[in-house]
Formats: sequence, C-alpha cells, structure tokens
Amino acid sequence: MLKATLVLLLSFASSSVQAQTGTGAGPATPSPSQRIVLVTGSTDGLGREVASRLAAQGAHVIVHGRNVERGRAVVDQVTAGGKGSARFYQADFSSLADVRRLAADIRRDYGRLDLLINNAGIITQERRVSADGVEMQFAVNYLAGVQLTYALLPLLENGRSPRIINVSSISASPIDFADVMLERDYSPSRAYGQSKLAQVMFTIDLAEELKGRGIVVHALHPAGYMDTTMVRSAGGTPRTTVAEGAEAVLHVVATGAPSGRYFVGKEIGTPHPQAADAEARRQLRALSRRLIGM
Ligand SMILES: NC(=O)c1ccc[n+]([C@@H]2O[C@H](COP(=O)([O-])OP(=O)(O)OC[C@H]3O[C@@H](n4cnc5c(N)ncnc54)[C@H](OP(=O)(O)O)[C@@H]3O)[C@@H](O)[C@H]2O)c1
Repeated sequence: MLKATLVLLLSFASSSVQAQTGTGAGPATPSPSQRIVLVTGSTDGLGREVASRLAAQGAHVIVHGRNVERGRAVVDQVTAGGKGSARFYQADFSSLADVRRLAADIRRDYGRLDLLINNAGIITQERRVSADGVEMQFAVNYLAGVQLTYALLPLLENGRSPRIINVSSISASPIDFADVMLERDYSPSRAYGQSKLAQVMFTIDLAEELKGRGIVVHALHPAGYMDTTMVRSAGGTPRTTVAEGAEAVLHVVATGAPSGRYFVGKEIGTPHPQAADAEARRQLRALSRRLIGM
C-alpha cells in the first residue's frame, strides 16, 4: 500500500566549521567574498547533496533540519573539502513559531543572504496536523517556506544576485479551497500533491511581487524517485540519484531564465493548470497570509 502510494506520488515524472545550533550561536563569519546560502532540509537527501556542492564551490552554507547529530555531520562533511564553510540551525517546520525563531536567528547572525533554497519536505501516510492545526504536508512542505521567505526578504534584498529556489515536485493535486486541510477526504498523494503545487503557485506570485526588487525566484521538480529517505521510508524503489536532482537544482540556481519559472529537471516545464489560475493563486495567497499572520 505504501509502495503503491509512493509510485503514484513520484512516478509521474518519469574553513571555519561552525556546528552550533542556531540559538545563541552569535554572529557568523563568512568571508566577504563568500556566497551565503540557506538550504532548508539539508541534513539528508537532496538538500545535503546540494549543500555539499555549494560548499565545494566556496559558499558559506546555512545547514538546516531537525536532527542535530545529522546537522553537525553535514557541517563536517560539507566543509571537509576546505573550500566552503557551514553552520547548522535546528528548526521544526511543523511549528510556525519555530520557523519564526529560525528566521530571527538568521537575521541576527547574518547581514545578507544570497540564495535561499526551500527544500525541506515530507510525505506522511496518515493525516496529521502541525502545531498550528494545519495539515502537516501543507505546513512543512509549503507554508513554512512561505513564512521563512517573507521573514528573510530583508536579508535577500542585501544579497548579491539574490534568488529563491522552491523545490517542488511534478506530483501535483489541485487545491480544493473548500477543504484545504483535507479533513474530509485525506490521501497522502492529495496532501503531498497540493503542497507541491502550492509551492509553484507561490513562486509565480512571488516573482510578480518582487519585480523590480532584484530577487529572482524559481520552482523545480528535481528528479523522480531519487534515492533518499523520503522514497525509501515509504517503501519505494529509487530510480534516480540525488546527484541527478542536485544537478537540476544547481542548473536552476544558475539559470538566466526570467523570474517565476517552473522547471522539470533542467528544462522549463508546464505546471498543473491550477497554477495559471489567478483566482486560485489569490485564494491561496489570502489563506497563507492569514495562517502565517501577515
Ligand atoms: N525524493 C524524490 O524523488 C523527490 C522528487 C521530487 C521532489 N522531491 C522534493 O525534494 C525535497 C527533498 O526531498 P528528499 O527526497 O531529499 O527528502 P529526505 O531525504 O527525506 O530529506 C528531507 C529533509 O527535510 C527535513 N525535514 C523533514 N521534516 C522536517 C520538519 N518538520 N522540519 C524541518 N525539516 C524537516 C529533513 O531533516 P530532519 O530529518 O533533520 O528534520 C531532511 O533534511 C522535498 O521537498 C521533496 O518533496 C523529492
């Protein structure tokens, strides 16, 4: 059953080592020439690979996740090459208060942010709700990224060629605005799919909102069925590698495409038609702002 669900979800697509947790860490010290990047959900899977590759290019990577041990290990790993630097911050995206605290800690410790990759994600088989009463996949995969992005916009505005990348998925379910929290008809694929489509809709809106402010935003489906904890824990058989997904992410990081695009791998793709529906995006924007208290 788990395996069948996962197939449905994912097979449509084909230094200075600083390992403190965020609270009380104090000012960070990336060198003036270093690109400062935040990769959410970089204690594992795709995020860890992307963090490692960016550090290998010389970046200062803000590593994020819930698991402190894995966070410290990633800091050690990504800085082992001696080119980049990294620091770990712990925050649980199933709590908007934790996302707010993470953003405040990063604003306290850094003067700028050049790249934000909203990558943290989950698939949950049973319906669960976040600390704020929001359906869990909508909360972790989408809403936390929205709140974090808005809270970090002042740092991004200070950044060099700043950009935001939303790691979405080709798995998409249209949002039913009469039951966004899926209280009536929950399924893991609906929950995951609507959270991933919401990220694409957010990307399109945010690109419009940030026009003229110098911040580029894109969304992408990295690769289908990568060999990650998300896939394996749901009983899936990996078909692609995190290396393939990371190459797609880094392609989108470097692309010269106009802001607000959705990529499938390295190619510009066409998202689910609901993403093009301005009224649906307006409803999503209004709901999201209400939920995060904007
Ligand atoms: N795997 C695929 O084939 C595939 C396909 C398309 C799109 N994607 C997308 O790619 C992204 C990465 O997926 P992955 O396969 O690399 O997953 P993964 O290996 O399971 O890694 C997920 C990451 O998210 C973090 N995370 C999970 N729940 C969190 C929470 N409540 N608060 C904070 N961080 C949390 C995890 O860190 P902690 O455990 O330390 O909290 C981990 O670092 C996701 O957005 C996913 O939807 C994946």
